[in-house]
Amino acid sequence: MSKREKIEIPVEAIKEQQEIISRVRQRNDLDLQRSGRHKSAMVVTYGCQQNENDTEHLKGMLKEMGYLFTEEKEEADLILYNTCCVRENAELKVFGNVGALKHLKTKKPHMLIGICGCMMQQEHIVKQIKSKYKHVDMVFGTHTLYKFPEVLEKAMDEAYTVIDILDNDGYIVEDLPIHREGRVKAWVSIMYGCNNFCSYCIVPYVRGRERSRKPDIIIEEIRQLVSEGYKEITLLGQNVNSYGKDLDTPMDFADLMEQVNAVQGVKRIRFMTSHPKDISDKLINVMGEGENICEQLHLPFQAGSNNVLKAMNRKYTKERYLELIRKAREAMPDIALTSDIIVGFPGETNEDFEQTLDIVRQVEFDSLFTFIYSPRKGTPAENLDDVLTKEEKQANFQRLLELQNEISLKKNKAYLGKTVEVLVEGTSKNNSEMLTGRTRTGKIVNFAGDQAMIGELINVEISDVQTWSMVGSVHG
Ligand code: 5AD
Ligand code: SF4
Repeated sequence: MSKREKIEIPVEAIKEQQEIISRVRQRNDLDLQRSGRHKSAMVVTYGCQQNENDTEHLKGMLKEMGYLFTEEKEEADLILYNTCCVRENAELKVFGNVGALKHLKTKKPHMLIGICGCMMQQEHIVKQIKSKYKHVDMVFGTHTLYKFPEVLEKAMDEAYTVIDILDNDGYIVEDLPIHREGRVKAWVSIMYGCNNFCSYCIVPYVRGRERSRKPDIIIEEIRQLVSEGYKEITLLGQNVNSYGKDLDTPMDFADLMEQVNAVQGVKRIRFMTSHPKDISDKLINVMGEGENICEQLHLPFQAGSNNVLKAMNRKYTKERYLELIRKAREAMPDIALTSDIIVGFPGETNEDFEQTLDIVRQVEFDSLFTFIYSPRKGTPAENLDDVLTKEEKQANFQRLLELQNEISLKKNKAYLGKTVEVLVEGTSKNNSEMLTGRTRTGKIVNFAGDQAMIGELINVEISDVQTWSMVGSVHG
């Protein structure tokens, strides 16, 4: 048996779930005939883009089982939380929300409550749910997401909590139903899992080892999306730069990007996330040359001090990171750069933190995702001692935010008077008369325009900028 066969779920297992989907659908159709009311489901997603993509699959399955979607708890026959455990506050929110449903469940005992995703891959969390949140009907992890129909069917009949968690390295599951959120841009997972074990991070424990989807399947999915009218594709993986290492015919991420760039009709290609230790010169060249590949790179550096980077097990130095940025800018002078930063990793001193600020000043990122370190159970950093107090960490965090806000505004100001290509995504959240979209560099642009422009590439002249967005008018 090859190593791939072990990680690909056999077609029969997916077929079995399809049969369950049909059975649940029949039950729900009967209910509809009797009550004249469609069943509705509410799915709440926490965390990263990978979770958003998983939710699209959960919704795809729900839709095939006859559910409509709602945002109102009171209306829902089924509430599902797709959880994240990267930081403690994400977990606390889930516990808070699930706890608050107890009352509603008493009022509506037939409403089903489920929790799935990364949090559920942790034994201590599942134990906590079992003992303190008895009103929860379904619990399943990231590795058994494809078995959601089976879990749901059981939960419809049983009074106990149905639990389906696999403690393994995870699989690749193809051909799951999908209900995509938008019609203009789509996410495509190219690989799952992570092998890096950064010392603060829980992801490798809950998402399993790296496994890549086959390139022909990825390309076919993208062709299909283009034929449905999608213009922008974001390739997803915890560390896309190690794509392909596990394939029977190994290839690398740069090769895949070349293939995606060659798909007719794809207007914009993005990807996330990249690890600085794995990003290659070949990829930077492919990005520079691929005309559909956006001039944008999300390259998390996490911390500026080499001591902290070592303790984080990141396997690069501040100097190497800055060298990568130099190369990326050489290949793409207008590239937009973003990064993730953790403030207050155990052992980080104020001098170490100055190194983080120094990178931010030198690179001048377009925007940043900043986090205060949150200890995660079972990770190597969990029991390391702090040098800084909570207040000192908070003060450093604030300094970082202020510095970045200044830089973001300055970078946006450079767009004033320029004409940029905007892919129009929809109407603006704050003003329904305005359209909203993004530049190739990922900047949000709002402008007055016709609804027919949604899904089109429109040239917009920028007339006003803020820290997080810009305003303009249709050019010519
Ligand atoms: N505490 C704080 N931030 C974390 N991240 C990952 N683990 C932790 C943690 N324990 C951040 C990293 C990563 C992003 C997705 O979340 O910056 O790149
Ligand atoms: Fe976590 Fe590091 Fe893997 Fe990113 S590369 S998911 S930070 S272990």
